[in-house]
Amino acid sequence: MSTTPPSPLLFALREGTRDCHKALEARLPFFSPGFDSAAYRRLLQAYYGFHTPLEHHLSDYQGPERRKTATLARDLLALNLSAADIGALPQCQALPAIHDEASALGVMYVLEGSTLGGQVLKRAMAERLGIGHDSGAAFLDVYGELTGSYWRSFLERLGQASAAAPSHAITVQAAIDTFTRFEAWLDQRNVLN
Ligand code: HEM
Repeated sequence: MSTTPPSPLLFALREGTRDCHKALEARLPFFSPGFDSAAYRRLLQAYYGFHTPLEHHLSDYQGPERRKTATLARDLLALNLSAADIGALPQCQALPAIHDEASALGVMYVLEGSTLGGQVLKRAMAERLGIGHDSGAAFLDVYGELTGSYWRSFLERLGQASAAAPSHAITVQAAIDTFTRFEAWLDQRNVLN
C-alpha cells in the first residue's frame, strides 16, 4: 500500500515479525470450520481485553483518531453485550512495555498493520457470519475508507524515525513482544485454535 520504498525500519519490522504474524494467523479461528457468531463474540471480547489497556498506554504517543477500542465496544454492544458486561471484561496485565517513541512505534506497527489484515477479515466475516459495520464487525474496518491513508501516514512516521535513529532493535523487539503477548493473552482466554 506504500507508494515509497520501505524504510530500513519498516523492512526490519517486516522481517522481524513475519514468523509471529504467520503463527498467530494460523491459530486465529476466523476461517476454521465451525466458527460461528458465538465464537466471534468470544474472540472480540478477548481482543477488547488486550486493546483497551494497551491503547491507554499508547495515549502519549498516538492521536485519538487512532483509538480503536470504542469501535470494539460498539461491536460488542451490537452483539448483545451490555455496557456493564463490557466494563467487566477481563483485561490483559502482561502488556508489551512502552517506554519511549521507539517502543511505541513497534507496538503501533502491529496494531496499525492489523487494519490491513482487517480488510480481508471484514469480507470473510460478511460472507461467513453475515455481519457488517452495524452488526458487530466495525472493528475489522475501523478506519473505513481512510485505511490506506492512515497506514501511509504511519509509514511516514516510521520513515522519519528510521532516518533519525539507526538502531531499530528496540522497535522490532516491541513489535515482536506485542505479537507474542497478544497471542499469549488470546490463548489464555481460550479463543485460539
Ligand atoms: C486471520 C487473521 C489475519 C489475517 C488473514 C491477516 C492478513 C493480513 C494481510 C493479507 C496483510 C497484508 C495486507 C496488505 O499488505 O495490504 C496483513 C498485514 C499485517 N497484519 Fe495481518 N492478518 C491477520 C491477523 C493479524 C493480527 C491479529 C495482527 C496483529 C495483532 C496482524 C498484524 C499485521 C501487520 C503488522 C501487518 C502489516 C505488515 C506490513 O505491511 O508491514 N494481522 N495481514
